[in-house]
Amino acid sequence: MPNAHLVYQRVIQAGRDFLNRPEANDQQIASSLLELDEARFKVFTHLVGMTSTKHLRYTVLALACLEPPVGPLLRELLVEGASFVEVHKLLSLYRKRQLELAQLQKAVQEHSWPRLLTTRRAPVDWASRPVWIFPADKRSRRLEGLNPAIAEVLIQRYSEPGGLVVDPMAGRGTVVQKALELGRKAWGSDINGDGRLVHKMDIADLVDALGEAVADLLVLHPPTFSWFARNVFDPSIHEHPETDYTNWLSRHLECALPVLKPRGRLVLIVRPEHKPQRFIRHEGLVRWAFVAPLELLLSEQDLEPLHYHLAVSEDGEEDWSIFVGLKP
Ligand SMILES: C[S@@+](CC[C@H](N)C(=O)[O-])C[C@H]1O[C@@H](n2cnc3c(N)ncnc32)[C@H](O)[C@@H]1O
Repeated sequence: MPNAHLVYQRVIQAGRDFLNRPEANDQQIASSLLELDEARFKVFTHLVGMTSTKHLRYTVLALACLEPPVGPLLRELLVEGASFVEVHKLLSLYRKRQLELAQLQKAVQEHSWPRLLTTRRAPVDWASRPVWIFPADKRSRRLEGLNPAIAEVLIQRYSEPGGLVVDPMAGRGTVVQKALELGRKAWGSDINGDGRLVHKMDIADLVDALGEAVADLLVLHPPTFSWFARNVFDPSIHEHPETDYTNWLSRHLECALPVLKPRGRLVLIVRPEHKPQRFIRHEGLVRWAFVAPLELLLSEQDLEPLHYHLAVSEDGEEDWSIFVGLKP
């Protein structure tokens, strides 16, 4: 699926050429295109490689026509990677007065707009049930991030306001961001950290950076087995990726555990992928390959098992296994 911003730019530029109005702005081009008769509009639609005149009219051009202040804000979201569906959903919330302009402006400035799409739902006490059935967030799913609703519940349950939450494989920083919002102190690092919310650091250097026994909650959401199989495992050296993965995780956990205070909590998180990967030789092993290494890790470490949570998204597309241990 092409990026919505590229589609938007391509349509407007093609509109300038088609109408022969090189100086016109986006809004003028979109309005003129919308005034074309049906036959010419169809020609233009095909010219830009689309099949649906409706999509072009009501999704792309309608967005280009939106007046300030909301129009430019929503178009900026396209540059940030939002899809047309997401932008129109926000527009609809704004029009129904379920979203205020100030909220939207703040979210655009802070790059936190995806949350506006997930926090609309009436709050349901899903985390008090034996299996957490949580609201899906397709965006974080796509980016292999932790679901923000799950991050929030874990932080609330397993840390106190003012306590330090540490996530040394923080990815895009979901946990760090939620922890700060919930009044905790937070440290996030990742080997691919962007240097803003998430420091760029190998987990092996965590204790040097933070010291020992400082964290109240240590969150570890390691790369999945299939990521490991694709990026780290070398079949010319090793034979069994499953064993190798467990050892690899174990080394990483050992690097991070010393930062946890006595009586501090470790939260280990994994989301098994549903489609068997090249390295998982039997479909029946899929769940094992993702979940068992974490169970093994906990049993090998000197930790008291505290809880095991299973969280499934409302649309059934993702499930998370969450192990919680207590440092004696
Ligand atoms: C499943 S992702 C974590 C996603 C994160 N919880 C979020 O919500 O965005 C696992 C992360 O571990 C990081 N990682 C892999 N090896 C690492 C290492 N040696 N030290 C630190 N981070 C590492 C990867 O870059 C990846 O971002």
